[in-house]
Amino acid sequence: MCGIIGVLSDHEVAPILLEALKRLEYRGYDSAGIATVQNGALDRRRAVGKLHNLSDLLVYEPLAGRIGIGHTRWATHGGPTVKNAHPHLAGRVVVVHNGIIENFRELKERMPGRSFESDTDTETVAHLCETFMEKGLSPREAAAETLKHLEGAFALAFLFEGEEDLIVAARKGSPLAIGHGDGEMYVGSDAIALSPLTDRITYLEEGDYAFVTRAGVEIHDVEGRLANRETRAIAAQAAQVDKAGHKHFMAKEIFEQPTVLSECLSYYASGDRVDVPDFQIDFAGTDRLIMVACGTAHYACQVAKYWFEQLAGLPCDVDIASEFRYREPPVSDRATALFVSQSGETADTLAALRYAREKARSVISIVNVAESSIARESDAALPILAGVEIGVASTKAFVNQLGALANLAILAGRQRGHLTEAREAELVTTLRSLPGLINQALALEERIRTVTGRIAEAQSVLFLGRGPMFPMALEGALKLKEISYIHAEGYASGELKHGPIALVDKSVPVIVLAPRDALFDKTVSNMQEVMARDGLVWLVSDAEGIEAAGHGVWETLVMPKVDPILAPLLYAVPAQLIAYHTALHKGTDVDQPRNLAKSVTVE
Ligand code: G6P
Repeated sequence: MCGIIGVLSDHEVAPILLEALKRLEYRGYDSAGIATVQNGALDRRRAVGKLHNLSDLLVYEPLAGRIGIGHTRWATHGGPTVKNAHPHLAGRVVVVHNGIIENFRELKERMPGRSFESDTDTETVAHLCETFMEKGLSPREAAAETLKHLEGAFALAFLFEGEEDLIVAARKGSPLAIGHGDGEMYVGSDAIALSPLTDRITYLEEGDYAFVTRAGVEIHDVEGRLANRETRAIAAQAAQVDKAGHKHFMAKEIFEQPTVLSECLSYYASGDRVDVPDFQIDFAGTDRLIMVACGTAHYACQVAKYWFEQLAGLPCDVDIASEFRYREPPVSDRATALFVSQSGETADTLAALRYAREKARSVISIVNVAESSIARESDAALPILAGVEIGVASTKAFVNQLGALANLAILAGRQRGHLTEAREAELVTTLRSLPGLINQALALEERIRTVTGRIAEAQSVLFLGRGPMFPMALEGALKLKEISYIHAEGYASGELKHGPIALVDKSVPVIVLAPRDALFDKTVSNMQEVMARDGLVWLVSDAEGIEAAGHGVWETLVMPKVDPILAPLLYAVPAQLIAYHTALHKGTDVDQPRNLAKSVTVE
């Protein structure tokens, strides 16, 4: 949800800002802009759409200056137009913002004489700061005073006319980091933005604001007191953000899965036992697991529900964070709450965590970004070790979330006396075989590419699954709609006859994700119901399943055989590749699909 960068340098900053914005484009790409101070004067350039439009503009209208801020936008208030693009200017102040200023209308009303050029909430921040400067406050004082009046979530960076050695940065609800270079200083939404510039980062905490100059940073807490925040070295992996020869980040990330899953599994198990480092929580003392997340991470939780219930006999609720946080759900003090988030910054998931923390026995998170807010606010933060994920449609993070969750469910099974040692060893061995099986599934790419030519022509696609493959059907449909813009629905196979079967005719592909398990025959009956209505069934199953039920279907995909309970980790691959190749056939923007963003730090 919008990326922010700020640079104080001895060199021209426009190229540095542009490079950093490239690394932040995954947070939004509706428009982009930069502002600098040169000879005391503020100036800015803004362009609608992808970053290359801003680069092109800068060729014709360069922007000089050794101090500057930049922004890449995911539109919330006001459409993606130049006037709504950041940085927003009011008199002697220019501002970039990530988040939502919830009381912006009220603030506008308090400044009746001022004229606003945009439809954004952010512009009110610049105007408010300018009004305080008009009353005689210095830029530092005016920015600090402005922050006191803002409600909602924000990460902000301010630049001022006449100030060539000051960026004011502030954080409440949205992440912001300060980078320390040699004689240079930086402000950025995350470590990825700053990674090639410096490996020394200070994360601002909730309510902090900072005065950043070339000499260093002075941080104040929400009460205005000087605050000491740790500066740490960030992992080198944050810098690895190239496509490694693939056409898209999404393809690179899909093909990385065998490697990153192996790393994740080695972290969670040693020998044939699950062994989670530094993890003190005992599931034997809990009577309910509450899992909360958004998007793809929510589907990972839905898969894990089957695991915690079957392997650990642990009652389990799964919730969407935006619903959980406001529903006032009762949470007993014997419940364990588990939050899953790739970014660790999703606003609704973080708010849900804060709600549960007051009530639950313990709060666990499973995150990809170790330094994230969700990780920091949990009793135990478990990593997924997927490495940086850039593609907006989550792939490797999903599979590694499943890897971490499967291990946790096995651990819970052991702690609760629900799993024998032998079954634990069997499951750990199966998990270990998955990177190899995923490699075999990746080899099906060409076949998937061919069949998706027909999927790309469809108006609507159904995915069916039963048991832990039901959430996989939901995830398959989500991936397809996200990047190919084809309407897709995931359904529990047995639920089809209660409504969605009305959609079926010869133009509707129905993708059935069905490893041969104990309920396979029931799924096949549901599939027959589709075929009886001329639906185009694509059966994705193992050789036994295809042998038993593949006659008369439109297409088949022969998957490697795996213990059905862990099949979701493997069947994620065809679901991802179906979406990817359909999108390629349609020519859509795979890594940056329209209207979406990777990190959702607004409600
Ligand atoms: C956005 C992304 C999804 C992601 C979801 C939750 O919608 O586009 O890929 O699954 O947010 O994000 P999180 O970082 O909490 O996993």
